[in-house]
Amino acid sequence: MSARGPEGAAGWVGRQRNRICPSILSADFSRLGDEIARVTRAGADFLHVDVMDGQFVPNLTFGPILVQAMRRLTPIPLDVHLMIVDPLRFLDEFAEAGADHLIVHVEAVEDPVVASRRIRARGLRAGLSIKPATPLPRLLGALSGCDIALVMTVEPGRGGQAFLDGSEERIATVRAAIDDAKLDCLLGVDGGIDPTTAPRAARAGADTFIAGHSIFHAPDPAAALQTLRRSVEPG
Ligand code: DX5
Ligand code: ZN
Repeated sequence: MSARGPEGAAGWVGRQRNRICPSILSADFSRLGDEIARVTRAGADFLHVDVMDGQFVPNLTFGPILVQAMRRLTPIPLDVHLMIVDPLRFLDEFAEAGADHLIVHVEAVEDPVVASRRIRARGLRAGLSIKPATPLPRLLGALSGCDIALVMTVEPGRGGQAFLDGSEERIATVRAAIDDAKLDCLLGVDGGIDPTTAPRAARAGADTFIAGHSIFHAPDPAAALQTLRRSVEPG
């Protein structure tokens, strides 16, 4: 049972089937307030924030200052994905900036179990993300202590890439591990998610869909978000 939320018996995952999470990496930063307002109104479940340091991945993006600004722009949970080396260096800064979920890479921490424990101890939801080529046991061994398992469906580092073949098997393996142990853990997918690939990920067992390009580069991001949500609804 989670000690961090008001969910009660329904747990953190709860009865809601799917979470749709726009990644602001693909937003128009000259109009960030409008972009965030649009997806908030359209019913985004979390706002995904990609932090890159130019070392763990080649690109460089933003840090706690932007998270702090976004915290004032939306009430929805900020899902902060740290693609940085030694991510726990910045735990306090991101917590103080208003992050709700802190996702670190299993490749970037010495011990994923300890990393999750430290994030939870700081009062945040703990996420563990895994790159496409990393053997899954690194994640599976730490699942019981985390709130979000994030399977990368592209090589992390930039938006707008194609969903990798082979991702479904990895998603299904993580889903089986979550279900077998009855864990209260979301299963997210990140990279190349659109109304064509999201149903494939959903059938494999994903319940949380991060999408940058397919939402913010659409002519109408609110409509794109709703289309994406419908694409993973059964029936
Ligand atoms: C990639 C990031 C993603 C990215 C996804 O390294 O972690 O969150 O924003 O972008 P799309 O949906 O365009 O692949
Ligand atoms: Zn991400």
